[in-house]
Amino acid sequence: MNFNHPDRVVQSWYPAMRSRGLGRGKARSLDLLRRRIVLYRDAGGQVHALDGQCPHLGADLGHGKVQGTELRCAYHHWCFGPNGACTRAPFFDAPPARRTRSYPVYEAWGMIWIFNGPAPLFPGPWEVVGSGARVFRVYTDHLPVHPHLITLNGMDACHFSALHPMAQTRAPEVSQEDAFRTTLRIGGRPHSRLLRWFIGSPTDELIGEFTVLGGNISFATVTYPHTFKVVFATDPTGPATCRSITFLIFPRGVRLRPLFALGVLLAVLPDDRRIFFGLKFQPGFSEHDACARSFYEQVNAMATW
Ligand code: FES
Ligand SMILES: [Fe+2]
Repeated sequence: MNFNHPDRVVQSWYPAMRSRGLGRGKARSLDLLRRRIVLYRDAGGQVHALDGQCPHLGADLGHGKVQGTELRCAYHHWCFGPNGACTRAPFFDAPPARRTRSYPVYEAWGMIWIFNGPAPLFPGPWEVVGSGARVFRVYTDHLPVHPHLITLNGMDACHFSALHPMAQTRAPEVSQEDAFRTTLRIGGRPHSRLLRWFIGSPTDELIGEFTVLGGNISFATVTYPHTFKVVFATDPTGPATCRSITFLIFPRGVRLRPLFALGVLLAVLPDDRRIFFGLKFQPGFSEHDACARSFYEQVNAMATW
């Protein structure tokens, strides 16, 4: 069972750190994905990610020095290439047959993202959203739950008309695009007159969808009356804690309506956040929780690394 597991980390894209926090020729190690990982930016500007403990005697490679495209451990000067293999070491004619794991890296939306696996199994959220979108990183939150529980919230069709002050206006529809991605379509009418006025839709309705990607990324797409997307990208920071980074996205060709988007978020997110405190998840799904259960099963079927 991967879902909500304190140590297993499924193969997915995870936000690591801000791009501008890692200059050329710099290395930095971080506690990420329940282990130590070192990121370094080579002289050409390319970022690489390796397991952070040196496979010689275990020094933290974050103390190392970037040399060309390689990282040299500070302790005994063994050097490692972007694929994690040792390339040379003092006193050795041929490099010792040691390697550390390397992770696929991608830079998008001002962040360095790493894929927790030998090769990406699916495109990151930047490809799903498409190029030309305007992306704003809105805030970073730290929450006392596993990342899967943040993502599960978007697939939990029953909570929209209970926790959130909204009446359901259409039956939820679910479609699974592939083994890593599922979408739930919903529509709701806010109970609050003020919010209905603010939304300004002729039918008083908000129509949108939630897409989950991997176990830790979710997109909320509001499609009516105005279009915007919100992406929540999470990563585990402890056995039952996570960091959640929120991006606000306006797709290409769509008018920027930041106040509308922020208003909708403020009407919904504080209620979800409150529930995450004190939540001790148990898989007690009922027959009305089919969408949530399908996400739970999707995560349990994913590979870890
Ligand atoms: S511990 Fe890294 S080279 Fe020895
Ligand atoms: Fe919610």
